[in-house]
Amino acid sequence: MTVKEIFETMDYGAAPESAAEALAWLVEGGDRFGHFIDGKMTAPATAPGEVFLAKNPATGEVLAHLTQASLGEVDMAVAAARKAQAKWEKRGGKARAKVLYALARLVQKHARLFAVLETLDNGKPIRESRDIDVALVARHFYYHAGMAQLMDEELPNRAALGVCGQIIPWNFPLLMLAWKVAPAIAMGNTVVLKPAEYTSLTALLFAQICQEAGVPKGVVNIVTGDGAVGEMIVTHPDIDKIAFTGSTAVGRRIRQATAGSGKSLTLELGGKSPYIVFEDADIDSAIEGLVDAIFFNQGQVCCAGSRLLVQEGIAEDFHARLIDRMSKLRIGNPLDKCIDVGAIVDPKQLERIEALIAKGGMEGTVNQPCPAPEGCFYPPTLISGLHPSAMLMQEEIFGPVLVSTTFRTPEEAVQVANNTRFGLAASVWSENVNLALDIAPKLVAGVVWVNGSNMFDAAAGFGGVRESGFGREGGWEGLMAYTKPKGKVTTVKPAMAHSKPDTVEVLNLDRTAKLYIGGKQARPDSGYSQAIYAPKGTLLGHASLASRKDIRNAVEAAQGAKGWSKTTAHNRAQVLYFVGENLSARADEFAQRIRDLTGTTEAKAKEEVAEAIDTLFTFAAWADKLDGAAKPVPMRGVALAMNEAVGVIGAFCDDRPLGGLIDVIAPAIAMGNRVVAVASEAYPLAATDFYQVLDTSDVPAGVVNILTGSHSDLAKPMAGHMDLEAVWSFSGADISKTIELESAGNLKRTWVNFGQTRTYAARDWLAQATEVKTIWVPYGE
Ligand code: NAI
Repeated sequence: MTVKEIFETMDYGAAPESAAEALAWLVEGGDRFGHFIDGKMTAPATAPGEVFLAKNPATGEVLAHLTQASLGEVDMAVAAARKAQAKWEKRGGKARAKVLYALARLVQKHARLFAVLETLDNGKPIRESRDIDVALVARHFYYHAGMAQLMDEELPNRAALGVCGQIIPWNFPLLMLAWKVAPAIAMGNTVVLKPAEYTSLTALLFAQICQEAGVPKGVVNIVTGDGAVGEMIVTHPDIDKIAFTGSTAVGRRIRQATAGSGKSLTLELGGKSPYIVFEDADIDSAIEGLVDAIFFNQGQVCCAGSRLLVQEGIAEDFHARLIDRMSKLRIGNPLDKCIDVGAIVDPKQLERIEALIAKGGMEGTVNQPCPAPEGCFYPPTLISGLHPSAMLMQEEIFGPVLVSTTFRTPEEAVQVANNTRFGLAASVWSENVNLALDIAPKLVAGVVWVNGSNMFDAAAGFGGVRESGFGREGGWEGLMAYTKPKGKVTTVKPAMAHSKPDTVEVLNLDRTAKLYIGGKQARPDSGYSQAIYAPKGTLLGHASLASRKDIRNAVEAAQGAKGWSKTTAHNRAQVLYFVGENLSARADEFAQRIRDLTGTTEAKAKEEVAEAIDTLFTFAAWADKLDGAAKPVPMRGVALAMNEAVGVIGAFCDDRPLGGLIDVIAPAIAMGNRVVAVASEAYPLAATDFYQVLDTSDVPAGVVNILTGSHSDLAKPMAGHMDLEAVWSFSGADISKTIELESAGNLKRTWVNFGQTRTYAARDWLAQATEVKTIWVPYGE
């Protein structure tokens, strides 16, 4: 036999990792586990109904008996977290940093045990849990130890949120724990975390590590159980923030359940990420990248490159080469170091995958060149020839199933890529840097990899847009989700419109202010208007009562003004300066209007106008100064954090007749958004005067749309509108609640204040007016 023949015929021998230590750890724990509350493990449950099993999906064997948390136990965990929080925050960032650093060191010391336990519990190949999951976990704690160290100096205006409820999925059990726990405790919060019911074991090992690292009792609490326990956390009255990673369906329910509760919320949900291959791509690399994009972790990855878009001219060759590569994948025992594809997390998830393929597979050509062994395994699958709108092209399969379609031109690639309700990640493959960097900003996604896929790092923000959720994890931007601005909060009562006096005094010719939609004054669809009186009873005029239809028209106009998001920041700044200048020329007139409407003093009215002009100048200044960042990720590349416009923002203004309007318009349009603003309900007439300022200031039609009318009538259609990307409210508490509830439809971002005033820094406004897109590009050696 020649050496060549040996190489060609050689099969891989099995190289299993020993499970002995991990199994011994389970035995040490008596195979039964309670929760980790207030620094101690609680007694495990024994009664049927209170116990559930941790199983090895590759073999079906039982690994441990776990405890389904009761409401009482969740209460205990929350109480422990509450008790510990103030002290933990007061310790200061530097002292917290030492604890996070110790956690990172201990994760590294126990890396093999964590990796094997993760693989046993989840079914992912040991190669991945060892080299990717656990390594990233350690990196995450190191990185956030650094953030704790720097917090006092770099984030002097931010404070901890309090107690965070964190609910994580089963696809990256320990890594998702790290993504949640590290930034939260670094910033001085305490946590109650619930791992997914399929995969709780590494979280319980982590609890032990917390004891060894000197995490004070109550700072980290871990309760186990299913979605019912998740719900107890979500609805718990003494939790300040919910952070969730999981399915879009559950994310939507959580959005509804937390609406109006005052809890902060971040959602990291599903995806159907496009993997775009242009004909000039390095095909071999693109195929290796694709194997990583969709077969990594059996495709159970929220940002999996699960939708292949390949340029028509190379599609046939690309598919043939891909099928050939797939035929060489090794699928089987996840503990075997030679294995590429392991077990599906649970038979239920396997059934889900099978059902989806049975339902939609016949619409395309199904290729499964690498058979799966018996058991909880699913073969790597390519389904080609699907129409872009086919069910399998749209639904998240969450298994090793790649669906594929073709495109002809870059424009078509962008169009097909964005034809999804999700917006988590995307990959672009081309050897032409101009093409790749032209496409990246056009993709509606929170993360874009150029000539790569599934790259993650603690320094780089991760998270989605659209129905992939909101909020970022990682980097400076990730810390926003675990902190709040410092400063006094006061509750304001919404102003009441002055009521009709017994005798109405009419000073001027009665005038009905119209709505301002698409750069024109528009009559309200309802045909109704409302009389606006001065405090002493003078009739100041009528304001239109906008309705659902007017919101639709205004959103349409705003969507039509997309060009604004593409204008240069310099141009946007010039327009804002111009608005400020024109307002300044009419300052006295606006001050008088404010006095007439509210009855305030001349000095106060003038101050409001001066502040509005100042706000316009401030955000004009910021328009070209909110820098992005080049993140120093530990691989051959940089991760660019680009601040993009959110899109169309709906906003309910507070009761300062002019200031409330300018506060929302200025930051929003400075960052390239278009706005549908609903003016102060009680004092709408300064906002309607403002049209003339807009008309004379080069603001393109549709960029700013102003409605007047009842906030409670308009909140529901605004928040429920599917073409809005975000809704803000500085109106009453009930408006905030309606917005949070109704936004669940397309999971748009919301920023509401429950009728409380707080002094926000310019950067707080800017963060709300932008989405950070992380673009990974190859760079350097
Ligand atoms: P899931 O979203 O139900 O589970 C994620 C976590 O949420 C688990 O800890 C679960 O116990 C908890 N949970 C479930 N219902 C809850 C509720 N009402 N309130 C609070 N917490 C709740 O995901 P599941 O059912 O395990 O998987 C179903 C599908 O979801 C998958 O096939 C996949 O498409 C998607 N998924 C997406 C993930 C992602 O990272 N984007 C992660 C896991 C699942």
